Formats: sequence, structure tokens, C-alpha cells
Amino acid sequence: MTVRARFEPAGALRGTYVPPADKSISHRAALFGAMSDEPVSVRNYLDSADTRSTLDALRKLGAGVEEEGDGRLVLRGVGLHAPLEATGGLLDVGNSGTLMRLLPGWLSGQPGGVWTLDGDESIRRRPVDRVAEPLRAMGARVEARDDRFPPLTVRGAELTGIEYDLPVASAQVKSCVLIAGMLAGGFTTVREPMPSRDHTERMLRRARVPFEREGPTLTVSQVDELELDAIRVPGDPSSAAFIVAAATLVSGSRVVVERMGLNWTRTGFLRIAGRMGAVVVGELEEPGTDSDREPVGEVDVASAPLEGTDVGPDEVPLAIDELTLVALLGAFADGETVVRGAGELRHKESDRIDAVVSGLRGLGAEIEATADGFAVRGDGAPLPGGVIDARGDHRMALLGAVAGLASTDGVEVEGMDAAAVSYPGFEADLRALLGAP
Ligand code: S3P
Repeated sequence: MTVRARFEPAGALRGTYVPPADKSISHRAALFGAMSDEPVSVRNYLDSADTRSTLDALRKLGAGVEEEGDGRLVLRGVGLHAPLEATGGLLDVGNSGTLMRLLPGWLSGQPGGVWTLDGDESIRRRPVDRVAEPLRAMGARVEARDDRFPPLTVRGAELTGIEYDLPVASAQVKSCVLIAGMLAGGFTTVREPMPSRDHTERMLRRARVPFEREGPTLTVSQVDELELDAIRVPGDPSSAAFIVAAATLVSGSRVVVERMGLNWTRTGFLRIAGRMGAVVVGELEEPGTDSDREPVGEVDVASAPLEGTDVGPDEVPLAIDELTLVALLGAFADGETVVRGAGELRHKESDRIDAVVSGLRGLGAEIEATADGFAVRGDGAPLPGGVIDARGDHRMALLGAVAGLASTDGVEVEGMDAAAVSYPGFEADLRALLGAP
């Protein structure tokens, strides 16, 4: 059922705010827990449609998942090399691209097993050849529709380590190859063209897997078992970004974001927003760490007049899920905001270049698509508003809501229900910050 929701121009957002748990880290915590021999306890696991798809798939494969409520889970894993269940069957990834790309890394190293991964309409439009190619090179048999799209069938095999140059800066593909690398004979080396989110790398270190990073080169070697104990998932900077954007755009706002992940590979949006003039104060992590932990902390955000900026290709992977919000900020800023090197946005839950350009245009913005990004021009005045179609994409629904709060006439979001994919509590969090009952 498609839900229409209206977001009226708001008064200032004020107060403290704890974002929902990180989606990327939740997926990885559950998967690594399922690959462990000993029980792994997870705190603050994200309760959302995407992360439920992961738990369902892992249960189907034979892992025990005890949900203790309030984001507490105990994973009773089957070990890395287990004879997994559901062989010959279908695994439903729902809307989750991360599950679709990470899980085959594990499955491909299970000789004799065969699984088919499929999902919703949006997943069926998202390329999986990017994981099929390296997994085949490692020895697995992998088939996809038109050799590019789900359903994806994985036939496990004895894998051999490879050296792989990622054709795109994708954390999902990187993670898939590194996970398969734990099951592959010898060493597996992945080179990334630019840094992308490094949660898998931190979790490998945490699980005491032999793993090294030298600049852009990541090497993992075969391992028998993982040694993980407890994982606490930090707040999601990508979900928090919607509240940060609202606090930046709605004048008089000041929000203290608490318990948020401050991993450098995830905070690109905060740096871009700060450069545009938003007041963002916090101890963000510096680049280049080899830590096995996820840094967590507080960021203080306040509204301010914004100026246009240029976002180049090297910044793109560090803000990949927030680039549509850069467009929104650009529409309210003075001058031109240009994002380049972001062709990957065309392969997200929707074609986000097309969705944000037509969506914001419908709200009154002067914005144009380019082959690999967009250019938006503002004069510092708020957008009038109107109707925006979420296109079944959670991040487009949330963007529409924020646009409404900052607009002069309000915004109607067609398909607000999509927000449940990553952020079911968004409207309640917003009401609390607006001081509404
Ligand atoms: C994710 C990586 C990114 C991101 C997605 C989550 C992850 O995708 O857009 O929302 O958890 O690894 P790509 O790796 O395809 O860029």
C-alpha cells in the first residue's frame, strides 16, 4: 500500500537526538555472527525491513537468531564452512542490495550448495554482475538474469584466492570478495580505486581474521573460524543525515546528535554540509585508521545560510547515500552546487540522479542531471514545495519529508511507506525534535 504523507513548513528543530542503528553495520554484524562457531551477541541491531531480510535469510541457512527485544540479538552461527541449509532453495533479500551483494561471498565458498537470491522489483533492476565476476574468478558458478540482474544463482565450490581491481568504488563488492577470500585457498587481494566504507575491514580485524591494508590494497587469507564476541552497532550517519539536513535548513534549529557512528568513510556528508556553511561541530574520525572499532560520538548541528559547492569523484563514496541531500541543500544555497563522478547513483534503490532531479524540480528547484551527477542552482531562498514521488526508494521518501519542513508551502510525499526500509521511526523522531505531541 502506497502512503501519501504531507510535511508542512516547520518551526525550528531543537534538542538531542539518537539516530537509528547503522544499517550497513547491522547487516555485517548478523552475517559475521552467522559465520561464527561461538554465539555472538549484538546490541542495537537495526529494526527495519532491510535488516529483517538479513535475519530471515540467515535463519533459512540454519543460523539461530534469538531476538531479545530492544535491538538485542544472539546469533548462534553455523561456522564459516558449514553445510548450509536451504540448498536448492530461494533466499529473499527483499529490497536489500547489501544482502544481495554480501551473502553470495559466503555461499560461493560452500562446495555442493546451490542457492538462488531474489528480491523485490527494485532489487531486480540492480546489477549483480559486479559480484558474479570476481566470484567466478575464484571458482564459484554464478548465474544471473541477462548475466547482469537478479535472480542470482550461486553454486558453491572450493575457492582460490584472486587479485581483484574493483572497477567501481563499491563497499558491497569489496566486502563480497573479502568474505569469499576468508574461504578461498591462499590470499585474496582487493584494490579499491577510492576509499569506500570500511565496516567489513574493521569487522575482519575484530574477528581476528588475517587481514592487512596497505593504502588501497586489502589482503585477506583463508581462515578456519572467526573469533567474535559482542558487537554494539552505532547510530547510522546516513539516517541521521536527514535530521542534520533539516536542522541545517530550518532556521533557528539546533540538534545534538548522540551515539552516532563517526567513521571517516561515512561522514563525507557532514564535511560537505560544513563546507556549504552549516554549523557542524564534532570529533569526526580522521582518515587512514586501521582500527577494529567503529568510532561513536556526538555532533552538534545548527542552521545557517548555505553556499553552493563542488563535490568531486573522490568524495562520492564517502557520502554515497547522502548525495541526494547535497542536492537538496544546494537548492536552498546561494550559488551553484555540482556533484561529479556519481554515476553509481543510477544503480541505487531508484535511479537517484533521475529521481532527485525530477523530484526537486517538481518542488521548484533549478536542477539538471548530468551523466554522472547533477548541478543545482539556488539564490538562498527556500523552495516553494509541491509533490514528490519516492519511487519506492526509502532515501527519496525521507528527502521529500525534509524538503517539506524547509519549504514555504509544504511537500506531499507519495510513497512515504518506503522509509521503513531503513528508518521506520523517522516521523516520531521528527515530532520529538519539533516539540510536537
Ligand atoms: C553499502 C554500500 C553502498 C551504499 C549502500 C550500503 C554497504 O553501496 O550505497 O547503501 O553496506 O556496503 P555500494 O557499495 O554499492 O556503493
